[in-house]
Amino acid sequence: FVKDGSVRQLLSELVAESLKTTFPDLAKNVAPVVVPCNNAAFGDYQCNNAMALFAQVKGKNSNFKNPRAVGEAIMKNLPETPLIETTSIAGPGFINIKLSKSWLEQRLEMILQDGLNSWAPVLPVKRVVVDFSSPNIAKEMHVGHLRSTIIGDCISRMYEFCKVEVLRRNHVGDWGTQFGMLIQSLFEQNPDWMNQGDQAIGDLQNFYKAAKVRFDQDPEFKERAQQAVVRLQGGDEQSRLAWKRICEISRKEFQEIYDKLHVQIEEKGESFYNPLIPSVLDQLNEKGLTEMSEGALCIFVPGHNVPLIVRKSDGGFNYASTDLAALWYRMKTEKAEHVIYVTDVGQSSHFAMVFKAAEMAGWLEEVQDDGDVEGRDEDGASGYAAVAANNGKLEGKKEKSKVQLRHVGFGLVLGSDGKRFRTRSTEVVRLADLLDEAKNRSQVEIRQRLEERGDLKNWTEEEMEHAAKAVGYGAVKYADLKVNRLTNYTFSFEQMLDTRGNTAVYLLYAHARICSIIRKSGKDVEELVSEAGVLRLEHPMERQLALCLVRFSDVVESAINDLLPNQVCEYLYDLSCKFTDFYSTCNVIGSPEERSRLLICEVTARVMRMCFQLLGITPLYRL
Ligand code: ARG
Repeated sequence: FVKDGSVRQLLSELVAESLKTTFPDLAKNVAPVVVPCNNAAFGDYQCNNAMALFAQVKGKNSNFKNPRAVGEAIMKNLPETPLIETTSIAGPGFINIKLSKSWLEQRLEMILQDGLNSWAPVLPVKRVVVDFSSPNIAKEMHVGHLRSTIIGDCISRMYEFCKVEVLRRNHVGDWGTQFGMLIQSLFEQNPDWMNQGDQAIGDLQNFYKAAKVRFDQDPEFKERAQQAVVRLQGGDEQSRLAWKRICEISRKEFQEIYDKLHVQIEEKGESFYNPLIPSVLDQLNEKGLTEMSEGALCIFVPGHNVPLIVRKSDGGFNYASTDLAALWYRMKTEKAEHVIYVTDVGQSSHFAMVFKAAEMAGWLEEVQDDGDVEGRDEDGASGYAAVAANNGKLEGKKEKSKVQLRHVGFGLVLGSDGKRFRTRSTEVVRLADLLDEAKNRSQVEIRQRLEERGDLKNWTEEEMEHAAKAVGYGAVKYADLKVNRLTNYTFSFEQMLDTRGNTAVYLLYAHARICSIIRKSGKDVEELVSEAGVLRLEHPMERQLALCLVRFSDVVESAINDLLPNQVCEYLYDLSCKFTDFYSTCNVIGSPEERSRLLICEVTARVMRMCFQLLGITPLYRL
């Protein structure tokens, strides 16, 4: 009765069936267009295929006089289904669809019984690489990397929810020329560094700065540093050990951030791909894609006025050659079907060129060995374009198992002065401090609220710490995710920790309030759940909330398609508003509908928690 997939996908399947009956010759090439209804008075969803189809059939001795007639035919041929209560035609041929009440009720009960997992949109992909965070060793991990970490984690979580295997990759900058000066400094300042552990380096940031000053000011040191790079890249053992030591110190600092934020990520840094570069470049040479220009090996990519340099004039490899090798590895060895890069928009043209080069090399054409993708059939709703798309939406072409490359760009994080975010001094912000500050501020506020309520005595220090982390880190994440990633946003503790408005704090409170309603009822929800048919949608506000709840997987599907986590935030906020509408009109505790309404509360809380999970935010059951 209730099938897997998002509501939009289920309705699209029905429309696809109807199209097959109505236009047997055309249906193969037409993707069903089903979207939420513009005007709730007309229906819940609408199908918009009629207009474009009419343009295709008109004149070709078809019987259709106008698009409306096409709409009527599609409507008439929709298969019998428990999903739909009524359909109607509006305007030039929109088909309005009203979902059936009993189907909605069952769908909600299903969440209570089986959880939300069977609602996951079905994606035509098995394995993806998400390249995110990716700070540079020995250099500062800055708010840009934090933004990449948060967005990349959210995108990974959404794919994982859809049962897609995600290779979460930290493409750390661990192979740049900066290592020459670092290693050389270490050797010169501390000949005994091997026996000194991490003390030999001390604070890595300062060590880097000092080395850089010397590098810039002392030409002889610069010379020695350059030779050190050559030795390191040539595999010299001492240099290798020093390099490892330096990477290890950075890694610990990065890990501190990932642990705080509960972000899983696996390091495969630039050095990992280094050995693959020569053969990948050979391949590109053979295909005639590379050219020498001013001593450098280049790929001239149409549409770009600078070439992609893949080997510098000194013979060294660079960021681009590493990315080409990494891409090759991800596609051919790891067999990823989507490769997603999360960095600031400043790198858009770099990725556009790398993607184009891959396309020119024919890498995208080759079908993946492993790419026999299960999932929705070709007529399903989620037609994915198999083209390298850059920041854009997927195009409507439907092909399977060609690799899809996407750059997920994001804007700057600004300070209250409208400039790039920094602390008081000119220093960049230390991320660990930033997160701690968010946590500490939350703690102060939570304590204050509890005190006002006279509830403080019921909280242990541990519970307080847990809540402060959830609120503080959640606030930082949510502030980052709720804006369209392409826009710059202003970092403000006051704003992100505001208990009103669209903030993590507000949402965490909203969720905790629902949990407290259920607790206060004294009813055992599990018991109610086990009794089938308790949940009823009689009041218009109940139906409105239910519709919002079943839209959850549509939203996830769309957020993945567009790679826009802010859609999940918008949804979560909308859901909590719909809950407020419901709760302020419908009595729960003590009402005749109490049992049913408690279940509605419970489903809402569960869907909210799933949103929190996708956003990487820890839900709180009381606050
Ligand atoms: N390390 C780079 C930076 O800090 C980001 C790397 C992104 N990933 C990639 N495959 N290029 O800007």
